[in-house]
Amino acid sequence: MAVRQVLRMGHPLLMQAAQAVPDPRDPALATLLEDLFDTMAACHGAGLAAPQIGVPARVVVFGVTHNPRYPQAEAVPRTVLINPVIEVLDPTEEDGWEGCLSVPGLRGRVPRPRMVRYRGYDERGHLIEREAGGFHARVVQHECDHLDGVLYPQRMRDLRWFGFEPEILHAMGGA
Ligand code: NI
Repeated sequence: MAVRQVLRMGHPLLMQAAQAVPDPRDPALATLLEDLFDTMAACHGAGLAAPQIGVPARVVVFGVTHNPRYPQAEAVPRTVLINPVIEVLDPTEEDGWEGCLSVPGLRGRVPRPRMVRYRGYDERGHLIEREAGGFHARVVQHECDHLDGVLYPQRMRDLRWFGFEPEILHAMGGA
């Protein structure tokens, strides 16, 4: 078990494109995946991308059962995605609240296409292909953005809806 330090907004590794993984079945990925899941769990994240722990590889993990950071979110299957590709199925944008372990303490309202199809490989080399909407689609898009050096504030169009968690959660009428 290794909980790694999460890089924060402003770090150059969060601004650059990550490299494709030559072989998703490479056993050397096991430690990276374990560290990603351990760090995500320790920080109550909904997902985490390898660049956030300083590894510039196209690997993300995500998954939500009950998450105190996202009390109203629907469940998202626990997933490893290596070399993911996202295709937008419905470009109609929906606004939704996002947080990021690299932008601690803050939330923002981010427009995202509402339906996507994503493909990628798990650590056994199996192709994962799913269609997703709602919070699931949002999480995948957010995590894959990290692989292109994009953080959610860059996707925002109205910075009035960028603020600190207690104030935002209060404004949402949530916990
Ligand atoms: Ni993030």
